[in-house]
Amino acid sequence: MIIMCPHCEKEHKISEDKIPTYSKKAKCNNCGNSFYLSGGTKANSARRISVCLTKGGVGKTTTAVNLAAGLANQGHKVLLVDTDTQGQVCFMLGVNPPAGLTELITEELGPDEALYEARERLWVLSGGRPLAGLKRLIDRQDFGGELMLSNTLKQIQNDYDFIIFDTSPGWDSLTVNVLFYVNEVLLPVSLEAMTIQGLVEFHNHLAAIQKYRNELSIKYIVPTFMDMRVKQKTTNFLKNLYTHYHKFVCPPVRYNNAVSQTPKYGMTIFEYDPNSKGAEDYNKLVKRVLQ
Ligand SMILES: Nc1ncnc2c1ncn2[C@@H]1O[C@H](COP(=O)(O)OP(=O)(O)OP(=O)(O)O)[C@@H](O)[C@H]1O
Ligand SMILES: [Mg+2]
Repeated sequence: MIIMCPHCEKEHKISEDKIPTYSKKAKCNNCGNSFYLSGGTKANSARRISVCLTKGGVGKTTTAVNLAAGLANQGHKVLLVDTDTQGQVCFMLGVNPPAGLTELITEELGPDEALYEARERLWVLSGGRPLAGLKRLIDRQDFGGELMLSNTLKQIQNDYDFIIFDTSPGWDSLTVNVLFYVNEVLLPVSLEAMTIQGLVEFHNHLAAIQKYRNELSIKYIVPTFMDMRVKQKTTNFLKNLYTHYHKFVCPPVRYNNAVSQTPKYGMTIFEYDPNSKGAEDYNKLVKRVLQ
């Protein structure tokens, strides 16, 4: 491919394979100018992050929604995809799109009709009950069922900076599809024994997919529901996490009343109470993901 420096207009011939996946900037070796890459290059393809854990109620949807909203607030174009039949992403955002992921994958509708702009720069592909039929369709495929999501999203992934997935508790064919598509996995881990055990279980599931996909890895472990009123217990769980997953552990998200109120009002934590501890914690997570 040819990249032209916008300053000195020198044309550089570069092999696409040599551009690191997440690289957004280039430096001209003629005039030294640094500039943003644009156009449908591999470098411009979205970062794809799945928020998952087999254990239920650990803060997956809350984290997916607030991370996506925080990235959009920072000026990035974000697609948030709900792969859970509970359909709570749209509920949390207070929107009710007429169609979503099911219609896009089954080609009943195209991207223009299936995608919904929930906020400025934040687009959603809704989940919910229609996904049950989609899962049956995936399960019936003799071949390539795990790639149905990847094949569909290929057509739009260059339009976004980030694609964030909220997944169901448990392990289903849609989560497998998500893990065949994303490169980065974010695990919200509530600080309790059952969840830490769930983390180990998830790791085993993930290893089965990593055999086929070298590029798939756990990038972020986010301790959630941190409650310093039970200091000893919380500190022990945190220590345990740092021992086993040190460089992946992110700043914790504390238990916060404002966060628990947000779904009732269909607001993100940044809209509901930008000065809350919840907003502070999710802003830290956004910064970490942007690092
Ligand atoms: N930091 C927090 N402080 C207080 N409440 C929270 C916090 N994070 C999430 N919650 C609340 O905890 C509940 C569970 O969170 P959430 O729905 O995000 O979990 P989940 O992992 O997506 O659940 P599921 O596995 O059922 O999809 C929700 O009512 C949510 O509002
Ligand atoms: Mg959820």
